[in-house]
Amino acid sequence: MAMLDPHSCADLSQGQVRAVQLELRVDFEKKILEGEATLILAEPSRGGPLDLDTRGLAIESVQLASDLGGDTQDRSGGGRADSGLALAFTLHAPPNGAEWMGERLRVELPKGAKSVVVRYRTSPDASALQWLEPAQTAGGVHPYLFSQCQAIHARAVVPLQDTPRARMTYAARLHVPRALKSRMSARSLGRSDSRFGAAWACDAFEMPQAIPPYLLALAVGDLAERAITKRSSVVAEPSQLDAAAWEFAEVGAMMDAAEKLFGPYAWERFDLLLMPPSFPYGGMENPRLTFLTPSLLAGDRSLANVVAHELAHAWTGNLVTNADANHFWLNEGFTVYAERRILEALSGRAASELHAAIGRHELEEAITDFAKTPELTRLRNDLVGTDPDVAYSQVPYEKGYLFLRALEESEGRAAFDRFLHAWIERHSFQSVTTDAFLTLVREQLPGVESRVPLLAWIDGAGIPEHAPRAESERWFEVKRSVESISRGELPTATQAASFTPAELLLLLQSLPASLTAETCAELDRLFALREKQSVELRCAFLCIAVRAAMPGADGRARELLLTTGRMKFLRPLYGALSARGETRQFARTLFAEASSRYHPIARAVLAPLVGA
Ligand code: BES
Ligand code: ZN
Repeated sequence: MAMLDPHSCADLSQGQVRAVQLELRVDFEKKILEGEATLILAEPSRGGPLDLDTRGLAIESVQLASDLGGDTQDRSGGGRADSGLALAFTLHAPPNGAEWMGERLRVELPKGAKSVVVRYRTSPDASALQWLEPAQTAGGVHPYLFSQCQAIHARAVVPLQDTPRARMTYAARLHVPRALKSRMSARSLGRSDSRFGAAWACDAFEMPQAIPPYLLALAVGDLAERAITKRSSVVAEPSQLDAAAWEFAEVGAMMDAAEKLFGPYAWERFDLLLMPPSFPYGGMENPRLTFLTPSLLAGDRSLANVVAHELAHAWTGNLVTNADANHFWLNEGFTVYAERRILEALSGRAASELHAAIGRHELEEAITDFAKTPELTRLRNDLVGTDPDVAYSQVPYEKGYLFLRALEESEGRAAFDRFLHAWIERHSFQSVTTDAFLTLVREQLPGVESRVPLLAWIDGAGIPEHAPRAESERWFEVKRSVESISRGELPTATQAASFTPAELLLLLQSLPASLTAETCAELDRLFALREKQSVELRCAFLCIAVRAAMPGADGRARELLLTTGRMKFLRPLYGALSARGETRQFARTLFAEASSRYHPIARAVLAPLVGA
């Protein structure tokens, strides 16, 4: 078998890592994880090399494991007698210009080897990890550590076959300072004493279900927990717990709605971890413990769709997983579709249509941004040599959504739902490509190809003709407001007050770039945008206001850029600042000041944008 994943050096014909056992000390002083990873293979090795992905890891030794993994005992052969045997290994630098691939770790396995122990430590600037000083947390007293492994950063935490094709279970023991608590994307097994002494504690975890490596996750900090339902708790720094519990109170209703739509929830618990502000995404579907940006705390539950989205990944993404980043739309397109079905069930069609309209807007913007690389607007990609973080965009999300919606509208909801159930059932705990999708669509929806141009959607650039469009009365009303504001006529105060947060967001996104500074200032007053708690709304407005050179806008943008690390806000705001000659240097200086607060992934993605 060949190496199929363009972003991994794993060669599954050498053997496959089936389980990982971690024993790691979390050292906040050195900003490293240090310890060992035991990798257990699905089958005893035939003898020969095993290639693993690493990034920035310092490898101390590789040994044959002693008696681990239960079924690995081979008393007749040499396997056991050799346990502890040091194995030869080499680290290979990535190709020039592809540092993001990390270093290939080649271990020479003797015949019969079933598991190996790698002693190692992570780099202080590991791409997956952000080590926060106390001042960067809500409480201000304790440090904080969190990981972000998707797309290909698990290799900066653990040496492994970092491709979603190599699903694995894991167990972990984290030694952490006793004052802190740790959580992982796994079942928590409780705390015991640590061999590192009284100042330390050891938290144990197990993830008995096979997951792609990008779903490995950990967070360590001053964490408190509050139950919302039997299956869901909110976890946050103590001072954020009330706000988080209130904002996410609908999680039980969401899970009920999702199970009705997609079948039983497979992961026991759905806990929500409220992250520090530097978390680079809106949410991350780490199984059993979804990570959520604190920018969702709008104070009005208006951003709950992000929770619905991460919940939907429990089926689309975590059960049925893209085989590699070329098929990322199978994760995100399906999940946006599922998210909007949950929203429709909970809040009605008008609400989900509004989100679809917001999504359409973001899709068209992404396609404009990719004018010079239209190949990145296909659903099925060819990302050899391209960093998936750089290729990331709304295209797989929103074009994927539109494609599935086109199928639903053509075939009818009942038939489409049967297909969706078959998709989840047939491919649970598998990692799949677009071909698997095509096979099942053709099987479940006979003749579909004469009604929906499947390959135009999948392999064509841009949005196909006759793509579905969101429709709702409120959306038309928003459009009318956009037109009048563009002519300089503002809504009345009563009209303005009737806008929901989602409608206001859509309005702000839809306004033309050519607004005058005066109109911006009037909008600011009319909608009380300065006072908005929602970072989403403030960011959308500031993007227009910065472009229009509204007095005061740059300062407010600066404030926002210093207090959030979510890339969804950083990209457009730095983009708007960099687009104007007068503020280009301001953006660069600001980035120099702020970037040490951003997650390494955000830093790497944004630096070229501001020319740093
Ligand atoms: N899995 C993604 C986040 C991600 C994707 C991280 C690729 C790294 C690489 C997550 O489910 C997601 O899509 N988050 C969105 C939420 C939104 C679509 C509701 C986000 O962060 O904005
Ligand atoms: Zn997602």
